[in-house]
Amino acid sequence: MLIQRPTDIPSSEITPREHYEGRRAFLRNAAGLALATTLPRAFAADRLTGRPGPYSTTETPTPFKNVTSYNNFYEFGTDKADPAANAHRLRTRPWSVVVDGLVQKPRTFAIEDLLRLAPLEERIYRHRCVEGWSMVVPWTGFPLAALLKQVEPLGSARYVEFTTALQRDTMTGVGWGSGLDWPYVEGLRLDEAMNPLALLVFGLYGEVLPNQNGAPVRLIVPWKYGFKSGKSIVRIRLVEQQPQTTWVKANSREYGFYSNVNPEVDHPRWSQAKERRLGELFKRPTQMFNGYGDQVAMLYTGMDLRKYF
Ligand code: MTE
Repeated sequence: MLIQRPTDIPSSEITPREHYEGRRAFLRNAAGLALATTLPRAFAADRLTGRPGPYSTTETPTPFKNVTSYNNFYEFGTDKADPAANAHRLRTRPWSVVVDGLVQKPRTFAIEDLLRLAPLEERIYRHRCVEGWSMVVPWTGFPLAALLKQVEPLGSARYVEFTTALQRDTMTGVGWGSGLDWPYVEGLRLDEAMNPLALLVFGLYGEVLPNQNGAPVRLIVPWKYGFKSGKSIVRIRLVEQQPQTTWVKANSREYGFYSNVNPEVDHPRWSQAKERRLGELFKRPTQMFNGYGDQVAMLYTGMDLRKYF
């Protein structure tokens, strides 16, 4: 077997990543279209592209297969493979998102209208779970701030509470004994939510968000541990007091409200100094704010980040 060394390969034969990624997506899409003629619409791979947005990392994206088969979505089970196996049951249409609370103009957005609210962008972000693994994902969406501005927050609004879907008949993991309080609720301070990095996400890899990743709409807050990014959101409420979030209620000693990625603050049961990037052999050092300090560190000026973990 002759393995070509890089210098042996003429540059004309090296396909730029965006081309082969595009081609893969095209092939998936073509397969999707073929299937769509015989299967219900929900099974087709729908394209959802956005123009390249700011703040994208140049790191290599984690393969589509890993991003969509190694998930946390406890409503569908606690095993990493459970969401991909079970979330096809989630009903994603009709879908609407209520945006209310301390706002001038409360509104209910049908998902179709929400999608058209602002130009879609592709943002390639690092995604770090509190459990110690990480990925790089090309998300499609627009800044959460674009939605919040539409409803005109009142001066008294200080926090934003995100409530995610609870479909007891489709969600196999929400029975008694699951240990969590449903629906899954998360929260941010209003200035965190208004930060341009906080993204309302509708797709990944140029396709409509797969159910296991939080279809039809989820949040991505790349400088925080992944559990702050609620999936399948149905309500966004502006409030005065810090919201009671699912994980803080479940175990406030282990999962703080802020939960900014911080290699210096260990989880009580494991170190956060390093992380395992999916697909890589060796662990890599975890970065403060997951590498987004330039954009977000000013949000925490004067705060002891060890106390507000
Ligand atoms: N949202 C809901 N509704 N339910 C969940 O169990 N898990 C969180 C977050 N959002 C979760 C959720 C956790 S722990 C992580 S790490 C990310 O989703 C995982 O997102 P991913 O599966 O797309 O990588």
